[in-house]
This record gives sequence, C-alpha cells and structure tokens, in this order.
Amino acid sequence: ERGNYRHFMLKEIFEQPRAVADTLEGRLAGGRVLEEAFGYGAAEVLDGVREVQILACGTSYHAGMVARYWLEAVAGVPCSVEVANEFRYRRPVVRPDTLVVTISQSGETADTLAALRDIKARVGSRALAICNVPESSLVRESELVLMTRAGPEIGVASTKAFTTQLTALLLLTLALARRNGLPAEREAEYVAALEELPRRIERALELNDAIDALAADFADKHHSLFLGRGPLYPVAMEGALKLKEISYIHAEAYPAGELKHGPLALVDGEMPVIAIAPNDDLLEKLKSNLQEVRARGGRLVVFADTAAGMDDGEGVRTFPLEHSHELIAPVVYTVPLQLLAYHVAVIKGTDVDQPRNLAKSVTVE
Ligand code: F6R
Repeated sequence: ERGNYRHFMLKEIFEQPRAVADTLEGRLAGGRVLEEAFGYGAAEVLDGVREVQILACGTSYHAGMVARYWLEAVAGVPCSVEVANEFRYRRPVVRPDTLVVTISQSGETADTLAALRDIKARVGSRALAICNVPESSLVRESELVLMTRAGPEIGVASTKAFTTQLTALLLLTLALARRNGLPAEREAEYVAALEELPRRIERALELNDAIDALAADFADKHHSLFLGRGPLYPVAMEGALKLKEISYIHAEAYPAGELKHGPLALVDGEMPVIAIAPNDDLLEKLKSNLQEVRARGGRLVVFADTAAGMDDGEGVRTFPLEHSHELIAPVVYTVPLQLLAYHVAVIKGTDVDQPRNLAKSVTVE
C-alpha cells in the first residue's frame, strides 16, 4: 500500500535504501562476495566465463549498460550489451564460453525471454538471470539466478528495480573480477563501498525538497538533455527515460563528450541541460563540456560531488551529493534523476503511476 506517499513511484523511490540492503543481505561476508548467492554450481559456471553478453529492455537495459563499464574495467571481462528486441533478430555471434546475462524486473518480458531461448537453443550458452520475480518464466529457464529483492514494484516507471539490478550486477562484477586477479584487499575495499550503498542512497534522498522546488522550472519545457560520462552516461539515459515516461517531456541523453559533435546546436535558454558529476577522473573533461553549454546560453542543472568544485552561478544550479566511492556512484546518482522526473510529472498533473500508453510488463513481442 501507498501509506503516506502520494504515488507508488515516490514510495518506491524512498524504499531504495531498504531494497538495496535486502539485495546485499547474506551475499557479502568478510570483505568478499559469496558465490552461493548465484545458485548451486555457480562457481564452476563462473570459472568458465570468458565473455558476457547482457540482454534486456528499457530500464533493465540501462542497468546492463552501466554493468558493461564495471565488467570491463573492474573484472577485465569483455562485455556486450544489447536490447533484446534487436539482438534476437540479427543472428549475433555468441560463443559457448559467453555467459548470457538477462536482466528483467518482471521476468516476463517477451523479447528478453525469446532472446534467451534462442541463444540457448543455438549455442547452448550458460545463462544467468537477474530478476525481481522468483516465480517468473525467466527465472525458471535460467541455470543461474541472482534475485533482486526490491519487493513488488507497482509504479510503471521502474525505480527500485533498477538500483537493485545495479547492486546485483556489482556482485557479479566482483565474483568475476576475483577470477581475473582482483587482489583480495581491492575486493574488500569494493565490498565496503557496497555495504555503504544504502546509507549513500538515503543521503541522496535528502535532496527531495530541493528537487521538488526545482521542478517548476521544467514543467513548461518541451525538450531536455541529460549528460554523463563513463558509467554515468547510461545513468543519464535512465534519467532521460524517466522524464519521458512520466512527464512526457522529450529528453535525450548524451555522453557529454558527444555534445560538440551535434547536439550543441540545440542548446539555448529553453533547453534545460542536466548533468551528473561525481568526483571521478572524467570530472575535468565534463566541466569543460558544461562550459560549452554555458557559452551557448544553456541553463544547467548539475548533480555534483561536494568535492567537485562546482558552484551555483549565472544559469547554473548545483545540487551537492556527498562523496561516494566511484564504484557505487552510478547507483547513488540515479536517485536525484528519479526525483526530478517524479516532481516534474506531479506539477504537470500526469498519471504518475500509470503513464499513458505504457504497461508494467511487456509480454507481447
Ligand atoms: C521503464 C520501464 C521499462 C522496463 C522494460 C523491461 O521505467 O519500466 O522500460 O524496464 O519494459 O521490463 P522488465 O525489466 O520487466 O523486463
């Protein structure tokens, strides 16, 4: 039930510290990821993995896009990610030592299921499902399963399912990284970052009132751009999808370095630009991209690490987030973008939990 929340979506956004903590529960110990979490016989399957192919749709696809950065940078495993509805129609090359990872909140998305069935029949790949519904088709048909424990998600726009998928994908990353020489003390550092995640999400939720006050500036806009770099680029994609889905404002995400290759032509005072700026090694590059936006009269909203040295100024609104470990930053920075989409939709008076034309689970192809 909704309790004191006006919409399920807001309730589900605020449930994220709990949902992420539940997803970690019993899966970490002594500075290590426990492989039993992936199911019986998981260690032997993971030993044989040389590549990862992620298949998903919508928000779950964005989680996969983030995971590609982690799997390659942290685990050293080549990773491809594709929307299942394209993958299944193009006879892609998949090798027997590729682990096929499907990501789905419902476990009933027709395209994701069909892509998995096809690849199992053609190649016989090993398959891991990251899913939120234990009794779903996807779970039944996958050899390994890592459940997200978000609890039922009622709002059509996915929120806590996404952050718990990211959490599960971090567990997978660390389990594979260990096989590729990640030193135990590094794993312990990453596990400590994961253990901090629920608290960091709680802190990000404290921006709720400030974001609510900002939302009025968006309600009359028709277009917006979301920028991020590295693993924050797919987080920007997810922020753009949320705004599109529930507030019906056209939103596009770009890796900030692509701006000058075209989209900068769109920037003017009527096009809000939302940027996410954790304090990572791409920060200086991102800052110069944002300068380009300012120089064209663009209005910027920046969610930035308190240590990033970004301040409010002419045409720039900054919302500070306390420092998070680089590994978990994509999860933490998702939260203010969810809140922004939510509050803009409330001002516009849309049906937040049941946006027009959309269904919670897409069981048609
Ligand atoms: C977006 C959203 C959809 C789903 C997509 C996949 O907010 O909810 O984009 O993410 O339809 O659904 P699942 O994860 O159930 O496979």
